[in-house]
Amino acid sequence: MDLDLKGRSVIVTGASRGIGHAIATEFAREGARLTICARTAGPLEEAAARLTAETGAEVQAVACDVTDPASAELIVNAAVQSYGSIDALVNNAGGSTRSDDLDTRWLGTFDANVRSIVRIMLAAKPHLAQAVANGGGAVVNIASIYGRESGGGPEYNSMKSGQIAMSKAYALDWAREGIRVNTVAPGSIAFEGGGWGRRLVEQPEVMREFIEHNIPSGRFGRVDEIANVVVFLCSPRASWVLGASINVDGGQSRSNI
Ligand SMILES: NC(=O)c1ccc[n+]([C@@H]2O[C@H](COP(=O)([O-])OP(=O)(O)OC[C@H]3O[C@@H](n4cnc5c(N)ncnc54)[C@H](OP(=O)(O)O)[C@@H]3O)[C@@H](O)[C@H]2O)c1
Repeated sequence: MDLDLKGRSVIVTGASRGIGHAIATEFAREGARLTICARTAGPLEEAAARLTAETGAEVQAVACDVTDPASAELIVNAAVQSYGSIDALVNNAGGSTRSDDLDTRWLGTFDANVRSIVRIMLAAKPHLAQAVANGGGAVVNIASIYGRESGGGPEYNSMKSGQIAMSKAYALDWAREGIRVNTVAPGSIAFEGGGWGRRLVEQPEVMREFIEHNIPSGRFGRVDEIANVVVFLCSPRASWVLGASINVDGGQSRSNI
């Protein structure tokens, strides 16, 4: 299937490693032009250079923290200035804020998984709307199975649920303009340097038992298995998919819906 992504301008947040990097890689292989961000400039610039070397794609790196209110305009302006448009936006940066302080934990996790994403979506919206006529105008937010059912820490569970609800609300709001907003909900995904990847090395027996009890397919998911679904959802081939939240989890989720 030709995904019709060649030359399209795509933003991926949190793309220096892990799931975000795999998403950027699959877009690059499809010939998209990328704007990627992460907080740490060095690994981000290395990731951008590696992507270009491997695929020949145009990739620009914008080092910023998505929880900084100024970052939304920074990322969106960079994409528009370099490529003239925004066809797709993938909000991947997220996760838990760890702290002994209750407010820091809850507000930080809200900022990372909901508020920052709303800001970037709103900044990108006029450009996404302009891209609709040409088959663009897609947003995918990376949630978790623990936004669709109970699990994970209380803050993470609440904010990933909030992210899915927020995404659905904007999906319905923006549908008339042709912008498609969806969420992808990964199960446990292991990669070198990631949380599960580290635990696989440090606690192999505990991880074997975790898989035995939690993942019917008998292994952790891979980053490319998330990326393939995200890239499809951002493509014109997914034109009738909006407001959806899609588990990509090897059967790990226990939710019926
Ligand atoms: N891995 C899993 O099993 C799993 C399961 C379900 C859902 N998810 C979700 O999938 C997404 C990616 O997870 P991952 O495991 O690949 O994460 P990760 O290893 O923590 O990587 C996150 C990426 O985002 C960047 N980043 C983190 N916070 C950022 C911020 N505030 N502003 C800009 N960039 C930021 C990181 O670079 P810097 O540190 O340099 O900023 C890195 O490039 C998250 O939303 C996570 O909640 C992951």
